[in-house]
Amino acid sequence: MRMPLIAGNWKMNGSLTLIEQFGEAFAAAELSSSVEVALLPPFPYLPAAQAALGATPVVLGAQTLNPAHSGAHTGEVSGRMLKEFGVEYALVGHSERRQLYREADEAVYDRLLAALSADIRPILCVGETLEERDAGRTRDVVLRQVGHVMARLDPQQRTRVTIAYEPVWAIGSGRTATPEQAQEVLAAIREYQAGFDRELAAGLRLLYGGSMNAGNAAELLSQPDIDGGLVGGASLKVDDFIAICQSAG
Ligand code: G3P
Repeated sequence: MRMPLIAGNWKMNGSLTLIEQFGEAFAAAELSSSVEVALLPPFPYLPAAQAALGATPVVLGAQTLNPAHSGAHTGEVSGRMLKEFGVEYALVGHSERRQLYREADEAVYDRLLAALSADIRPILCVGETLEERDAGRTRDVVLRQVGHVMARLDPQQRTRVTIAYEPVWAIGSGRTATPEQAQEVLAAIREYQAGFDRELAAGLRLLYGGSMNAGNAAELLSQPDIDGGLVGGASLKVDDFIAICQSAG
């Protein structure tokens, strides 16, 4: 009942050439219609990605957005602008945004609302640091990050949100969470949501992110509460990314 989503977050990587390669590869790839695939390139590549991927099932996403619709925000991009380029998803609360750009829970909430109001589906990223895990605080940290946002949404808004659990220590480190570790946290997120609405929680799409690759994706995706992946490094290699998409469907 939950359609898996594989989202490729290119971060500040990629090129026009890579966009073209993805366009050609996805046009030729055999993808199951029961998996949704999203590509999240840096902003300047969105028009080229829209053209290159337009004839494929791949949809576009953005890595962040500004909470405002327009105005004096030098260097920023709004949800309305992204929507003009066909963007369907936007990450909010990625740990790199939280750490490098000091986006705290309230800033994450503002961005999530901005995405919803631009009719873009937010992917709320949450995850603990290694220090927090070692201190036994994983559950508290993750549920605080989830709760700060989800507890303030109405039921209709909640149905538009996807949540990605990305343990900070697993991002770009080559150290993947074990399927059991990822499952445990994602099950806790679903259980937390069930406190609001059981049916909605059952339909909530939950992703795992953190060193997911073509070799470990199938096992991670076989867990009952892992409905897809948020892929960083491996989403820059077209064959690997397609293999991950294929293992989801
Ligand atoms: O958003 C994706 C992410 O942070 C995971 O990156 O390189 O560990 O797959 P990576």
